Amino acid sequence: MSDKNRSQWDLGRFVETLTYFEVIPFLNWVQQLIQGRFTDSQAKPNGGKNVGVILVAGATGGLGKRVVQRLLERGYKVRALVRDIEKARTILSDDIDLVVGDITKPETLTPVVMANIQAVVCCTAVRVQPVEGDTADRAKYYQGIKFYQPEIVGDTPENVEYQGVKNLVETAVKYLPQANEKLIFDFSNPSTELKNIWGAVDDVVMGGVSQSNIQLVENAAFFAGNVSTANSGGFASVRTRNFDPPFDLSGYTGVKLRVKGDGQRYKFFLRTDTQWDGIGYSYSFDTIANTWIDVTIPFTDLTPVFRAKTVKDCPPIDSKRIRSFQLMLSKFEYDNALNPNFSPGGFVLQLESIKAYGGETFPQFILVSSAGVTRPGRPGINLEEEPPAVRLNDQLGGILTWKLKGEDSLRASRIPYTIVRPCALTEEPGGKSLILEQGDNIRGKISREDVAELCVQALQQRKACNVTFEVKQAENSVNSIDWHQLFSNLQPDK
Ligand SMILES: NC(=O)c1ccc[n+]([C@@H]2O[C@H](COP(=O)([O-])OP(=O)(O)OC[C@H]3O[C@@H](n4cnc5c(N)ncnc54)[C@H](OP(=O)(O)O)[C@@H]3O)[C@@H](O)[C@H]2O)c1
Repeated sequence: MSDKNRSQWDLGRFVETLTYFEVIPFLNWVQQLIQGRFTDSQAKPNGGKNVGVILVAGATGGLGKRVVQRLLERGYKVRALVRDIEKARTILSDDIDLVVGDITKPETLTPVVMANIQAVVCCTAVRVQPVEGDTADRAKYYQGIKFYQPEIVGDTPENVEYQGVKNLVETAVKYLPQANEKLIFDFSNPSTELKNIWGAVDDVVMGGVSQSNIQLVENAAFFAGNVSTANSGGFASVRTRNFDPPFDLSGYTGVKLRVKGDGQRYKFFLRTDTQWDGIGYSYSFDTIANTWIDVTIPFTDLTPVFRAKTVKDCPPIDSKRIRSFQLMLSKFEYDNALNPNFSPGGFVLQLESIKAYGGETFPQFILVSSAGVTRPGRPGINLEEEPPAVRLNDQLGGILTWKLKGEDSLRASRIPYTIVRPCALTEEPGGKSLILEQGDNIRGKISREDVAELCVQALQQRKACNVTFEVKQAENSVNSIDWHQLFSNLQPDK
């Protein structure tokens, strides 16, 4: 190597890189102590966590607040759509994102409300109350066992149960991701979490002087810097710290990047190893200058490499345990070949998202409707035996008729859905065995606790896609429910 091509190597940046990625854990600890940054955000990033948000409409209601609670307990990020934020603060936990909106006013279902949603659980309802009035905590309405002559107060069932649900469905369609994709990194929503996960790994680790970083700006991340071939170097990269637990992407075909580059060829790596300098699974892709493109990377097309050398006899990637992600601009292709689309100097690759694609489809919209919606006016119905909402449907502004129309709007959409039609809701403790039926013929009662659990479980059940069913509780209590089995017995809607 000629002296001309030697540049000043930066020891500080070398230590910083190894420290960030915990190759020198002790230094990392000291640094955090000195800087007072020994916080949770520095804990290992969690690959099991969901990136998207579950939007709960009707979150201040008897059922909605329980759905929120159970989603939080399972580690989901939750956003509550509420009409009155002060009221919501008295009912809901501090851990959630509260957004103000009214489903009857589509203009309030703004990007702030809908951004980054992964699924919607809709528990809204018109206000029903005893004609004689209720207590401040609505105890007479909520108990669900003793009959009080009911009336609708406030907005009409047509507005809330039909038009409102339809508004929410039509807005959600525009924001929900492809049902068979999983969002892994959403760079269009920069967060401190993302900043704590991604860091630069440049050829400084090999003695080189290239420099890069990842900057989170308004709608994208910029992987940018300067690649120098001095000191036999020639690469710049950004890499995530190791995820613990790792990402389980085994149900997916591969990974999809949404990027805008500068015409150069970049590399994408996945690693299953926690080792700093171990085997990576690599894929090279060309960018088109100043143009957004989707780069689709099937797991089967990844090449195992150690640094830039292909590794023979290496097993294919185990997509069940993805520990880290990396993007690189390198002078080298593989095995001493050169990158044909590389020029040293400044570069920029914009990133919008990294997703897993080709997975199974799960429900993305859970609508809580009601048993009885098809019974008003149905031939052969004996009103004497029917629950109050069926008997009093006309007096209650056609509540069930409009709920059915709300259901129809969801069934007509392209969203994978689950429509839950509970029998009379009670405030009794949950934990009962559940009876699911189709055809709208059952009568009975069910605890709001159990309906909330059912809604949360449906989000993770493939067989809950595009089904409509009634549900009531059985007499017996159970410790656990085989949800897969329960949903497997249902027929999808035509
Ligand atoms: N009660 C029963 O026996 C029974 C039986 C079968 C099915 N269901 C159904 O089960 C579901 C849950 O019932 P629940 O008793 O838990 O309901 P709930 O306590 O009355 O809650 C209704 C929720 O909807 C919200 N809401 C009403 N109009 C809205 C609008 N325009 N925009 C946004 N949010 C709105 C309310 O918000 P505010 O707090 O701002 O009012 C409240 O959070 C409902 O779909 C209900 O019809 C009930």
